[in-house]
Amino acid sequence: MDNPFIIKSYETMELFCDREEELQQLLRNVTGHIDTTLISQRRIGKTGLILRLFDELSATHPDIQTIYMDIFASQSLDDFIKMMAEAAMRAFRPKSSILDKLMIFIKALRPQISFDPITGEPQLQISYQTTHEKEYTLRGLFEFLDSQNTPIVMAIDEFQQIREYPEQNMEALLRTYIQQTKNITFIFCGSKKHIMADIFANARKPFYSSTAFLTLDKIPLEKYKAFITNLFNKKNRNLQSEAADFILEWTRRHTFYTQQLCHTIYDNGATDIGLDDVKKACAQLLQQGEAVYLQYRQMLTEKQWNFMIAVAKEGSVTQITSAEFLRKYKIGTPSTARKQTDSLCEKGLLNAETTLQRTEYTVNDVFFSHWLERL
Ligand SMILES: Nc1ncnc2c1ncn2[C@@H]1O[C@H](COP(=O)(O)OP(=O)(O)O)[C@@H](O)[C@H]1O
Ligand SMILES: [Mg+2]
Repeated sequence: MDNPFIIKSYETMELFCDREEELQQLLRNVTGHIDTTLISQRRIGKTGLILRLFDELSATHPDIQTIYMDIFASQSLDDFIKMMAEAAMRAFRPKSSILDKLMIFIKALRPQISFDPITGEPQLQISYQTTHEKEYTLRGLFEFLDSQNTPIVMAIDEFQQIREYPEQNMEALLRTYIQQTKNITFIFCGSKKHIMADIFANARKPFYSSTAFLTLDKIPLEKYKAFITNLFNKKNRNLQSEAADFILEWTRRHTFYTQQLCHTIYDNGATDIGLDDVKKACAQLLQQGEAVYLQYRQMLTEKQWNFMIAVAKEGSVTQITSAEFLRKYKIGTPSTARKQTDSLCEKGLLNAETTLQRTEYTVNDVFFSHWLERL
């Protein structure tokens, strides 16, 4: 219960490791009215960083109103509007004049309002007659927020999801409305790097060159090691140095997995934590994941499954078409390897990290990777 290792986006700055430079960059952007595109691999800490920023803003810039919306589950423009309205309703203080005005605006859309039985948060259902009406509503929402004489920072998480909507003109529409706002600064966040790049860095697309890019990498080794060691110390636990090194190496410093492993180690209760305690927690996590890993197996062809094992056993692969790699794992031809890689990346099971020099492939889920490598 008092576990200091967070495994959900954000709690307090004391439990949040580093990200100082990125935070300062975001602060400069939002106070300078520059929109930001924030990109990283999944589960590295984008959402956490946004909430960290919002926490910082509420302390240092209480005049700025922050709005967070996650559109991961949205499928269409309807959903986007609904989520934006709900996000705005959550953001403004109860009984504030802005919230009162917002409610009047929303009620004019004649929605059905219900309340989530678990969180108690309001949920909207709006019905429209025509496409034109939807676009009008969306524009109205942006205009409403922009005209409140309050600086607003609005983060749209998993922004690449707009590419899944049946509406073909989403980007042009959003770009137009966003461009017209004067009091709102945006943060567009996403994990699908190639889609985000195509939205914001493709000269033929509406959002081209409209934002500053910020990419989130792994937390530096020494900082993360000091942070973990410290959090254990504060709870009167000792983490041996070699145990800390093992944690960071085994989880590849991928934030989500590092936090999960530390969380489990903490729950297990050892007070002087050595390598054995860490390895025990690793085994527990692989055991817990097994049901899901076996599901993946059902979803994949035998060739894809074997390809996953090959990448896992290598840890990471840069030469996916090299003769040695193909022979070692009986993969077949270079074109087969390329086909497998593409489809497994598409499914989100493999991750491709591209630099100027090369592309490095890894199994996206670090625990799954360790589980596969033992097969
Ligand atoms: N700087 C940090 N320090 C500690 N834990 C973090 C940090 N950033 C993220 N986390 C944790 O890592 C996990 C993944 O972070 P999240 O922000 O959800 O990633 P993303 O949005 O990139 O997918 C969460 O459980 C979160 O609590
Ligand atoms: Mg996220």
